[in-house]
Amino acid sequence: MSSLPRDPRADEYPMPFVPYGWYGVLRSGELRAGKVVSLHRFGRALIAFRGADGRATVRDAHCPHYGAHLGAGGKVVDGTVVCPFHGWRFGVDGACVEAPFAVRTPKVALGGFPVREHSGLVFVYVGPGEPSWEVPEIPETGSRDFAAPIDDVCRARVHVQEMRENIVDESHFHFIHGQSEPPVQEWREDGPYAEARGRISRRVLAWDINNTFDAFMYGPGVMVVRVHGPVLSVTAVALTTPLDDRTSELRMLYYLRKPAPFPLRFLTPVLKLVFRAEALDEVREEVAIWDHKIHQARPVLLPHEKGIRALRRWYAQFYPEQ
Ligand code: FES
Ligand SMILES: [Fe+2]
Repeated sequence: MSSLPRDPRADEYPMPFVPYGWYGVLRSGELRAGKVVSLHRFGRALIAFRGADGRATVRDAHCPHYGAHLGAGGKVVDGTVVCPFHGWRFGVDGACVEAPFAVRTPKVALGGFPVREHSGLVFVYVGPGEPSWEVPEIPETGSRDFAAPIDDVCRARVHVQEMRENIVDESHFHFIHGQSEPPVQEWREDGPYAEARGRISRRVLAWDINNTFDAFMYGPGVMVVRVHGPVLSVTAVALTTPLDDRTSELRMLYYLRKPAPFPLRFLTPVLKLVFRAEALDEVREEVAIWDHKIHQARPVLLPHEKGIRALRRWYAQFYPEQ
């Protein structure tokens, strides 16, 4: 974050900081059996661990008994988490299963979330009741035609919605992403799902490279962007998650398609390096803008800037009705 003095309006939003929906909180490999992982998301201290059958769970971190943080010295024993302070144990459903020296085990539980694990990710659902929709599987994440992802995490002092608005902000593609003109995007939506499709051409060295991109949005927290071009095909999984009332995280997992003719596959690491150098800096430029921008409830949009308006209308469904 730069040393610009902070304008207090940059922390003001008319909407709550946690839109309802699925969020990808961990990569599967980050949650090893037998370990307690501490997380801070949605303004809450959380822990994640796996049950005896390997099932992932994400729960509130603080013990209902006397408030110890289960991630600070807690252990996983037989698929339950054991509090470091007085040994109370909790199962993957959060329920207390043992309280040493108690005549009867107290009927208390750790709060938590509906959890799904697929596509190499652990997703949690934030919202009232049970989720009525799902994040579909992302086939590239398990495909041998794609390289292991480039994993890039950054944080900004911005509402999570503004991170998503970026993909439909047509004009910034010229200024941030080297595209000659603002792209024309097509917008389609279906309940909690939406798509923005367009073309991007950019000059790399002496070439104009024409790419198509299709952004598939699954609620407020998960977006899969597929970019196809003559040089490169990339599937980017963009996870946008509110951490607290003024900080959001953007985690990008870029899956590069390995060059198709088998002998060229040795080029994959080179492709990854070039891609890394190009793409990651552009995200940093956006973070620097996000860190200081304010939320314009009524932005002055030009005729070709239809995307932000469409996205905001769609995104409003993830907030409780006021
Ligand atoms: S605070 Fe957790 S068992 Fe007492
Ligand atoms: Fe962007």
